[in-house]
Amino acid sequence: MTGEAGIVVVGAGQAGFQVAASLREGGYRGALALVGDEAALPYQRPPLSKAYLAGKTDAEGLALRPASFFADHGIARHVASPAAAIDRDGRRLLLADGTALPYAHLILATGARNRPLPVPGADLAGVHQIRGLADADALKAALGEAERIVVVGAGFIGLEFAAVAAGRGLAVTVVEAAGRPMARAVSQETAAFFRGAQEAMGVRFAFAAGVTEILGSGGRVRAVALADGRTLPADLVVVGIGVLPNAELAAAAGLPAGDGVRVDAFLATPDPAVSAIGDCARFPSPFAHGLPGDGTVRIESVQNAIDQGRCLAARLAGRPAAYAALPWFWSDQGPHKLQIAGLSAPGDAAVVRGGEAAFSVFRFRDGRLSAVESIDRAGDHMVARRLLAAGTPLTPEQAADPRLDLKALAMGRP
Ligand code: APR
Repeated sequence: MTGEAGIVVVGAGQAGFQVAASLREGGYRGALALVGDEAALPYQRPPLSKAYLAGKTDAEGLALRPASFFADHGIARHVASPAAAIDRDGRRLLLADGTALPYAHLILATGARNRPLPVPGADLAGVHQIRGLADADALKAALGEAERIVVVGAGFIGLEFAAVAAGRGLAVTVVEAAGRPMARAVSQETAAFFRGAQEAMGVRFAFAAGVTEILGSGGRVRAVALADGRTLPADLVVVGIGVLPNAELAAAAGLPAGDGVRVDAFLATPDPAVSAIGDCARFPSPFAHGLPGDGTVRIESVQNAIDQGRCLAARLAGRPAAYAALPWFWSDQGPHKLQIAGLSAPGDAAVVRGGEAAFSVFRFRDGRLSAVESIDRAGDHMVARRLLAAGTPLTPEQAADPRLDLKALAMGRP
């Protein structure tokens, strides 16, 4: 065993970094360890499928803080050492390298991993994913030699990558199981805009398409076979078909974990010495009203990682508050920026404000504003965040009225 039992954070991504930084900022002076399975300093992931791949920023530019920050703030980094087990009775975190870290409080910020494509050939050379820095580095190197690219999944990752690759003049086909892009997250209207924008960049789509096999020769990918009999030639394949929460560590320790580590509104598991935050955590959200399921959500976003890190650090410093931050997201695709505030369900009504080139889609569920998708309308997004966070009443009819001054409404002015 090493050292005093303090706070141990498992996972050195955005959420793990934030809770550690916020604990120190809030005056916590005890032992603090940050355990990660990667070697790099904690870094921002969103640019990996955008600016980093496009060569507009480097690894140093991605780091959340320099190495000196962790030394100066007494945050002990355990790098490239995955956690292997939680000994809840002994209050120790066991690492794969044999280290045992005693804890008074354990924070699970283990994130999520990419869902693997369950078809033969998915392990061929030339089949890539984007999750970590190492993935992005491998993909960046491969892009230099690629000519024909197939992207599997028209979600955020797939489309952001497609825009970068098309921007380099490469032939890109995106294969998507659903009938439109980003079906999980956005309205038909927003999906249609981005389909058109991607096509204008030269990207081709195959919708309602299933991949049956990735074909190779000499151990390298050469084509993607679809269920409808088509074969798409490819020398590079990128798979972005969603993520799975890293909840196995919690489940193996007997903590409730089904599609995420289950926590209450204070981000606590049923074990008072263990909490969970970020992509791995499933929690009750005030913004989940009317969504299918049990009122809990698991959110994959930078906003959620940061706000949950701050919320938990405050509780551990004696200032408990239920987590109630408004979810928001963004995606950059070529010249276009999509910003989403709130949580929508596929059946939510849609009201469009704005013109063809830049607009916002206001989504309504049970007559209440549920989410706003803004395309190249950053001002709308900021207003939407205020409206949704404050629960300001807005009817679909009001949203449809171009004369309504939304900003004034959000600021509480008549
Ligand atoms: N073949 C083709 N498409 C598929 C398949 C499949 N076998 N399985 C799923 N898909 C499609 C889904 O229909 C969806 O459109 O893949 C897409 C996945 O999109 P997302 O759920 O947005 O996931 P992804 O793009 O992988 O991003 C993962 O990383 O950037 C973050 O926050 C972002 O939550 C997102 C996460």
